[in-house]
Amino acid sequence: MHLLAIESSCDETSAAVMVNGELRSNVISTQLIHTHWGGVVPELASRAHQKSIIPVVQEALQLAKINKNDLNAIAFTRGPGLLGALLIGTSFAKSLALSLNIPLIEVNHMQAHVLAHFIEDPRPEFPFLCLTVSGGHTQLVWVKSALEMEIIGETMDDAVGEAFDKTAKLIGLPYPGGPLIDKLAKEGDPNKYKLPLGEIPGLNFSFSGIKTAILYFLQKEQKANPQFIEENKADICASVQKTLIDILLRKVKRAMKEKNCQQIAIAGGVSANSGLRSELQKLGTEQGWNVFIPAFSYCTDNAGMIAMAGHFKAEAGLFCDQSVSPLARMEF
Ligand code: KG4
Ligand code: ZN
Repeated sequence: MHLLAIESSCDETSAAVMVNGELRSNVISTQLIHTHWGGVVPELASRAHQKSIIPVVQEALQLAKINKNDLNAIAFTRGPGLLGALLIGTSFAKSLALSLNIPLIEVNHMQAHVLAHFIEDPRPEFPFLCLTVSGGHTQLVWVKSALEMEIIGETMDDAVGEAFDKTAKLIGLPYPGGPLIDKLAKEGDPNKYKLPLGEIPGLNFSFSGIKTAILYFLQKEQKANPQFIEENKADICASVQKTLIDILLRKVKRAMKEKNCQQIAIAGGVSANSGLRSELQKLGTEQGWNVFIPAFSYCTDNAGMIAMAGHFKAEAGLFCDQSVSPLARMEF
C-alpha cells in the first residue's frame, strides 16, 4: 500500500508518504505570515496552503522515492479545522485521486493526533488513555482501537494551547506563544506566583477562568510596577505553565483511576511542551503507568499522523468517494 497523506487544517501545509504502514517522508511547511498578525488569519492560511501544496506534495514523493503513479490511495484531513484551509487539502486530494483513479481516505485530525503514537516504537496497546492537547482542542480520549475512540473529557471553553498563546500575547510574545513560554519557563521559578486552578467537576476542563486570572494579575502588578512583565517574564511563564500542567494532570490522574488504566499517552501541539512531558513522566513513574510521549516532529500538525490514521482505515477498507467535503467541526 503506497499512501499519500495531506494535512491542511490550520497553518501547516504537510504531505507524507507511507508504504505498508512505514513512514517514508513527512514534509511540513509552516506558514510564517501569521506571526505578523498575532494569530492565524483564516484567509491568509488558505492562500498560503494553495501556494505550498504542490511543492510540499512533490517533495514528499521525492523524499520517499515514489512516483505518483505508484500511489494506491490518498488520505487527507477532512476536519476539524479552518474550513477554507481544509478545502485546499481536500480539493487537492480529490483532484489527484480522480486523475490517478485511486480511492480517498478521509481522516479526523484529532484522531490522527492520537494515532501518531503508532508511527514508531514504543507503541501503546489498546485500550489506552490519550490526553490530546492542541491549539483548538483539549480532550481525554479513551482509545479502544485505531478506529474506535471515545472522548471522556474535553474543554468547556478555551483549549489549553489557546491559554498558552493568549498568555504569551499578554506578555508581548509573538504567535504562536506556546513554544516561547516553554523556553522562558525553563529559566523561571514555577512557584513564584500562585494562580487559581479553576477546577470544574468530572473529567471536563475549563481554561477561561485562568485566562482572566492571568489578565487581572498582570494588570494589578503593572499598576504597581510598569516594568513588572519585563522584569519577571521567566517567572510568569514558569508559573503559568505549571498551573496549566497541574490542571491537565489532575484530570489525567482522575481519568486513569476511573478507567483502571495503566497506559497514558499525550498528543497534539502542546504535547511538545517540555514541562508537560517531564511532569507526566514523573507522575507515570510515581503511579506505575506506562507513559507514551511522541517524538517532537509528530506532536504539532503533520501529515505523517494523517498517513498513519489513513493506513488503519485502508486496512479496514474504509475508503470514501468524490462526494466528500470538508468539515470545520467533526465528531469522532
Ligand atoms: O496540534 P497543533 O500543532 O495545531 C492544532 O491542531 O491546533 O497545536 C498548536 C498549539 C499552539 O497553541 C501552540 O502554541 C502549542 O500547540 N504548542 C506548545 C508548544 N509547542 C506548540 N505549547 C506549549 N509548549 C510548547 N512547546
Ligand atoms: Zn493539530
